[in-house]
Amino acid sequence: MAISGIQNALGTFLQQQSIKMLIGGQWVESASGKTFETINPSTGEVLAKVVEGDSEDINRAVIAARKAFESGSWPKLTPSQRGRLLLKLADLIEQNAEELAQLETLDNGKPIRYSRAGDVPLTADHFRYFAGWATKLEGETIPVSIPNMFTYTLREPVGVVGQIIPWNFPLQMAAWKLAPALACGNTVILKPAEQTPLTALRLGELICEAGFPEGVVNIVPGFGETAGAALAAHPNVDKIAFTGSTEVGKKILQASIGNLKKVTLELGGKSPNIIFPDADLKFAVRGALNAIFFNQGQVCTVGSRLFVQKSVYDQVVGGLTDAARKMKLGQGIDPGTELGPVVSQEQLERVTGYIEIGKREGATPRTGGERPGGNLAQGYFVQPTVFDGVNDDMTIAREEIFGPVVVALPFEDVEEVAARANSSIYGLAAGVWTSDVKKAHKMAAALKAGVIWVNTYNQFDAAAPFGGYKQSGYGREMGHAVLDAYTQTKTVWVSLR
Ligand code: NAI
Ligand code: MG
Repeated sequence: MAISGIQNALGTFLQQQSIKMLIGGQWVESASGKTFETINPSTGEVLAKVVEGDSEDINRAVIAARKAFESGSWPKLTPSQRGRLLLKLADLIEQNAEELAQLETLDNGKPIRYSRAGDVPLTADHFRYFAGWATKLEGETIPVSIPNMFTYTLREPVGVVGQIIPWNFPLQMAAWKLAPALACGNTVILKPAEQTPLTALRLGELICEAGFPEGVVNIVPGFGETAGAALAAHPNVDKIAFTGSTEVGKKILQASIGNLKKVTLELGGKSPNIIFPDADLKFAVRGALNAIFFNQGQVCTVGSRLFVQKSVYDQVVGGLTDAARKMKLGQGIDPGTELGPVVSQEQLERVTGYIEIGKREGATPRTGGERPGGNLAQGYFVQPTVFDGVNDDMTIAREEIFGPVVVALPFEDVEEVAARANSSIYGLAAGVWTSDVKKAHKMAAALKAGVIWVNTYNQFDAAAPFGGYKQSGYGREMGHAVLDAYTQTKTVWVSLR
C-alpha cells in the first residue's frame, strides 16, 4: 500500500489475503471460515480482512492455553527465562517500531506522531518493566503461633487467563494485559477489539519470533457478543481481565459466575478536571486541552468535565476554545495531524448523537459541535467541541461520551467543587490545577477516583498502579499492584515436630 508523505514501513503483513488468528503456535483460519473487515477511520476504506473468531475458536484456544499451562516447556521455565522472553519481545517491538506505529495509526486513526512517540515505545517499556518482575514474585514466611510449625506462602500463577481489550490504545492495552500475565507464568487468550485487531496480531508474530512456547499466547480476533462472550463464559478459563465499557464489564462479571473466575475490570469514566484561579493558567489551559482532546477524547481517563472557578472561567474557557479551534485535524498518517478521526462509524454516531443531545438540552458549543467537511468528510471526524452553558444534570455532563467533547462547568469554592466532582457513578481519574500545595493535597484526598493528577494530566507509567473507584472498575493494573491479579497465594504448613 502506498501512503504519501511518510516512509512506508509496512511489510507483508497487510498484504495477506486474510490475517489469521494465533492458536497453539499456529496461524489458522476461523472454524466457521468467516472473516471481517477492519477499516481505516481516516478514510472509511477497508484496510484488511481478518479471520473472525467465535466460540469454537475460543474453545480451541482455551484447550491450547490449558495444555501450555499444565505441560510442555512453559511451566518448567525458570523465572529468569520468562523474564528474558519478555525482554526479547520488547527488543523486537523496538526493532519493528515504525511498522507497528503505522499499523496502529491506520487501524485506529490516531495521529502518527503519538503512535511513534507514545503507543509503541510505551508498549516496549511495559514488557521490559514486567520482565523484571518475573524474578521477584516472592512468598513470605509466617510466624504462626502454633509451636513447631514452619509456614510459608508461594505465589503461583492463576492459570488460563482471558483478556478482552478495547480499541482506543490497541497495542498498549495488549501490553498492559499480556506483560504481567506472562511475567507471573499464566497462559493467555487475548481478544482484541473488532475495530482494531491489526497490531495485536502483528504483536503475535513477534511473540512467536521471541520464542514463547506454543499455546502460551493465543490471539483470537472477533466480535464482543460472540468471541468475547464465549471467552468470558468459558468454564475452563480461570480469570478474565477486561477493559472497555461499564455496560459490558457488568456482563463479564455475570458470565464469570459459572466457574467463579477471577475478574478485573477497567471501565469507563467521566473524570473531573478542576482549575483553581491560583494555578498557572496558561499551563492549565494546555493541560485541559490535552486532557480532553488527546487520542480524540477516546481515553478512559479523559478530563471531560472541566470545572473552572468562576473568577477565571471566561479566561480559561476562552483560552481552551481558541486552542481547540487551532488544532490541526487530519488523517492519522499525516505527520502534521494533531486530532485524527474517532475510531468507527458507530463511535462517530455515538459522539455526534451526544453533541445533538447537548444542544437540545440547552448547552452551547463555544467551538466545534459539527463534523468537518472537505477532504475529511469521508473519515469519521468530529470537530473538537467545548460546551458552555452546561449544568451538572445534563446528559452530556453525566454520561461518558468518549470523543473530543468537553463540558465546561463554573464553580465557587473548594467544598462545592469536590462534592460536584464526586457526584458521578464513575471514579477513574481526576485533575487538579493549583499552586497552593495544601489545596492540592486536600483535593487529592477528597476526590473519589483511582488516579489524581496535580498540575498535569494523563500520566501513565508501568510502575504506577492504575484503576477505578465505583463503577470505573475492580482491581489495579501496572506497578506491583497488578501482580495480585495474576497470582494466587498458596500457604504451606510443615510440621517440624
Ligand atoms: P465495549 O465495551 O463494547 O468493547 C470493549 C471490548 O469488549 C471489545 O473487545 C469488545 O469486542 C468486547 N465486548 C463487547 N461486548 C462483549 C460481551 N458481551 N462479552 C465480552 N466481550 C465483549 O466498548 P465499545 O462498544 O467499543 O464502546 C462503547 C463505549 O464504551 C465507548 O463509547 C466508551 O464509552 C466505552 N469504552 C471505554 C473504554 C475504556 O478504556 N474504559 C474503551 C472502549 C470503550
Ligand atoms: Mg460494544
